[in-house]
Amino acid sequence: MPKFYLTTPIYYANDVPHLGHAYTTILADTIARQHRLAGDEVRFLTGTDEHGDKIEEAARRQGVTPRQLVDAVSGKFRSLWTELAVANDDFIRTTEDRHKLAVRDILTRLHKEGHFYKAAYEGWFCTPCERFWTEKEITDGNCPNPECRRPLQKLVEENYFFRMGRHQAWLVDHIRKHPEFIQPELRRNEVLGFLAKPLGDLCISRPKSRVSWGIPLPFDGEYVTYVWFDALLNYITAIGYPFEMRTFQRWWPADLHVIGKEIVTTHCVYWPTMLAALDLPLPRTILAHGWWLVEGEKMSKSKGNVIDPAEVIARPIDSMMPERRVGPDTFRFYLLREMPPGQDASFTQERFRTTYNADLANNIGNLFSRVLTMVEKYASGKVPARPAEPSAFARSVTEELLPAIPGLLRKDRPEETIALILAHGDRANRFIEERKPWELAKKGETALLAETLYELVEFLRILSATLEPFLPTTVQQMRAAFAEAGVSGNPFRWGLLEPGRPLRKAGILFVKMGVR
Ligand code: MSP
Repeated sequence: MPKFYLTTPIYYANDVPHLGHAYTTILADTIARQHRLAGDEVRFLTGTDEHGDKIEEAARRQGVTPRQLVDAVSGKFRSLWTELAVANDDFIRTTEDRHKLAVRDILTRLHKEGHFYKAAYEGWFCTPCERFWTEKEITDGNCPNPECRRPLQKLVEENYFFRMGRHQAWLVDHIRKHPEFIQPELRRNEVLGFLAKPLGDLCISRPKSRVSWGIPLPFDGEYVTYVWFDALLNYITAIGYPFEMRTFQRWWPADLHVIGKEIVTTHCVYWPTMLAALDLPLPRTILAHGWWLVEGEKMSKSKGNVIDPAEVIARPIDSMMPERRVGPDTFRFYLLREMPPGQDASFTQERFRTTYNADLANNIGNLFSRVLTMVEKYASGKVPARPAEPSAFARSVTEELLPAIPGLLRKDRPEETIALILAHGDRANRFIEERKPWELAKKGETALLAETLYELVEFLRILSATLEPFLPTTVQQMRAAFAEAGVSGNPFRWGLLEPGRPLRKAGILFVKMGVR
């Protein structure tokens, strides 16, 4: 059985999760579900990044300890994933022993093998903010933090450096030879542009006097590890490196790291060079998606437009039906459908409503209730007889949809799978309009009526299998309709429903969404 190991970034545990984090995790979860459906053995990892100055600062501001803060925030991420029907196989926290011990082991080895050196680091330091700023970030000699703006000081600090620069040549070569390594192409070109300039070494330590919330360097207790050097290693420590090498070798290299576009350099430059220093193979693909805006604007606390996914899914779908909630599937489906690969997208209430009504309420939901109602009315709620000859509609399912499914499920482009399924949903709805089963019933054309209904319910059954990665909770309701229909084995074959077996009605899958 092919294996598939995929990850999300580990999110900073300094603030509660929002739409952006939810999107990355939903995209990765959908890809994971697609691979499971295709028959792969999948390991899907997510987690939280819990060290460093950002966490320390946020804890100080809130008057809690870093430990209290990360425990609380990490718990919020975890429970949001449950609410959003995310089926991750593991959740790593960088403050866990399994991670810290592995990182210390790795650092000891890299240090012994000469990958690090100590040197003076000179830079612009802001004492109140307790951080260095790069030349590029500074405009006028003052701290770029808008809430600070105090004068910066030139400061020299001793630190440890990783010999990253020596990896430049082979990395460029690898990126050139493996177009699948960085996706989409726009990001790949960006990284190649970055690597056209000389690649420096990477500062991997922070003096304890400045940042104390981190993994101490095993070879120098005056320092903690730079948070990115610690965080990136989660992708291997979570699968057992370096203590459980059998498990590790089962899963590594990762097949896919899903990330947002702003952390491309850390994942496509730092990470591969770290792996090379450890003599480990590189991940197959790093997929960087775009950013979510809200009603066309950048999401920010000060604008007050940050979208809380838990709030969105708990909304009533329509004021007429307060007990029906938006729920995880609707939210997941909208995000996957709305963001073009690699580009930014804007979350708008209007599009949320129109996409839902068009694709879920009208196309899929309506099809289910129409067909199952007709089966009840014209076929006593039982699977009708199989047609002797397939219709053009059935042929489009057997010749276009079914053969495409295995390849699509492994393509890591959920929006393409969704588009193909919806196109066939449209065809099914048109097939009903053409055949007009209610007229066939009136005219007594029972054979054609049975054939039409058989093909429609058979299509619904296939839908309920193929839609699992995109509507993981609603498909349970869809599948209940076929619980006694005598189907077993690989669901992606035509003609599995046994004539005469009972079908159950599925209830209303998607209530139409009204204007709020
Ligand atoms: N802790 C680091 C990642 C370390 S991975 C070894 C980090 N954390 S983060 O909390 O800032 O999360 C960043 C990720 O969240 C982005 O890469 C992206 O996946 C997601 N998003 C955060 N805001 C986003 C949007 N507005 N839109 C889409 N996704 C964005 O960086």
